[in-house]
Formats: sequence, structure tokens, C-alpha cells
Amino acid sequence: MSYFDETSDLPSGLKGLFLRSKVSLSIADPNREDCPLVGVNEPFCDLSGYGADEVLGHNCRFLQPSDGAGPVRARMRRFLSDDTVTDGKFLIPNCTKQGDRFLNLVYMAKLEHQGRVSLILGSQFGVRIHSSQGTDAYELALKEDLRQLKTLADQRDWTVLGSYDALASSHSMIARLRME
Ligand SMILES: Cc1cc2nc3c(=O)[nH]c(=O)nc-3n(C[C@H](O)[C@H](O)[C@H](O)COP(=O)(O)O)c2cc1C
Repeated sequence: MSYFDETSDLPSGLKGLFLRSKVSLSIADPNREDCPLVGVNEPFCDLSGYGADEVLGHNCRFLQPSDGAGPVRARMRRFLSDDTVTDGKFLIPNCTKQGDRFLNLVYMAKLEHQGRVSLILGSQFGVRIHSSQGTDAYELALKEDLRQLKTLADQRDWTVLGSYDALASSHSMIARLRME
């Protein structure tokens, strides 16, 4: 089974990173119709309950509940269509394949190749509302993945856009959620 759409020419360093990473990673192609996923990794499949073959080629909104995901969905859409914003973090209700609801903290960063946004990197973290357990470890692991990706990208004429500022906001986002 492949975790990547073989018709998309993903940088090999990126594939290696996906296979090594302990956090849920996904990658989508914004230049194809409806921005489909072209790569996921095993932690993504573990979190969502879907096999890679079931999700590649589909827009990642299939994770959202059929009764809607609230206003955050529109914020994600605006982020993707606004070239001046390079990365962002979103807390959105999602469902696993088995139908279990969970809150997904989705981080997205744009990857540029030859001056245009060519791929969108996504990372997912299933939030526990009553404890921040795992949040720090997740942020650290994702930060290390991004650092490696930036190094790889620099060598291959790719640029990982984003300042990481959006990355370290999990605690405050979860705290805000508890107050609401
Ligand atoms: C790489 C990538 C990963 C994404 N991961 C998720 C996710 O895990 N959960 C989710 O609800 N939406 C995710 N999205 C967002 C949706 O695919 C979609 O962009 C969002 O629903 C807004 O667009 P729409 O209004 O056309 O659905 C991801 C998008 C990209 C590009």
C-alpha cells in the first residue's frame, strides 16, 4: 500500500519525512481540482481510521461531520485562498471513519516551488478537551519535522512558507475552547 499519489511528483525528502514522522501529516495539491490529498502518513491513518487508499485523491473535508463543521471551515477556505497568509492553525470538529467525533487541531503551511504555492502541508492532532496531555510533545515533534522539511526544501528549490508562529498556539486554543 502506498501513502502517496504516485502521479504527483512529490520531493523524495518529503516522502521520507512522512514515513519517519510520529505525528499525523498530510499533503495536498492546490493546483489540482478541489485540492486533493496526494500524501498522508501512518499516524494520519491511525487518527482518522481511514486507509491511505481511501483518502488519496479526496479533499480532506471528508473528515468533517455531515451536520457541518461550523465557521472554522470558512476560515480554512479563506486561509487557502489568501496568498498573503503562509501558515495557520484551526480547531475543527471531525469524525473518524468509525463515526467517533473528535476535535482536530489542524496546522497548515504552504510550500512554494518556483515562485508559486505548489503544495499544502497539513498536520492533525486529536485534542482531549479536559487535559492538555500530549500537546507539548506534539508541538515539539511537528516543529522538528518542519525544521527538517525546511532544510530539505532549501536544497531542492522549494520553500516552506510560514514563521512557526501559528504552531505554538495549541494551549491557548484549547484553553479558549474550555471557556466557551
Ligand atoms: C493539507 C490539508 C489538510 C487538511 N486537513 C484537514 C483536516 O484534518 N480536517 C479538516 O476538517 N479539514 C482539513 N483540511 C481543510 C479542508 O480540506 C478544506 O480546505 C476546508 O474544509 C475548507 O474548504 P471547503 O469549504 O471547500 O470545504 C485540510 C486541508 C489541507 C489542504
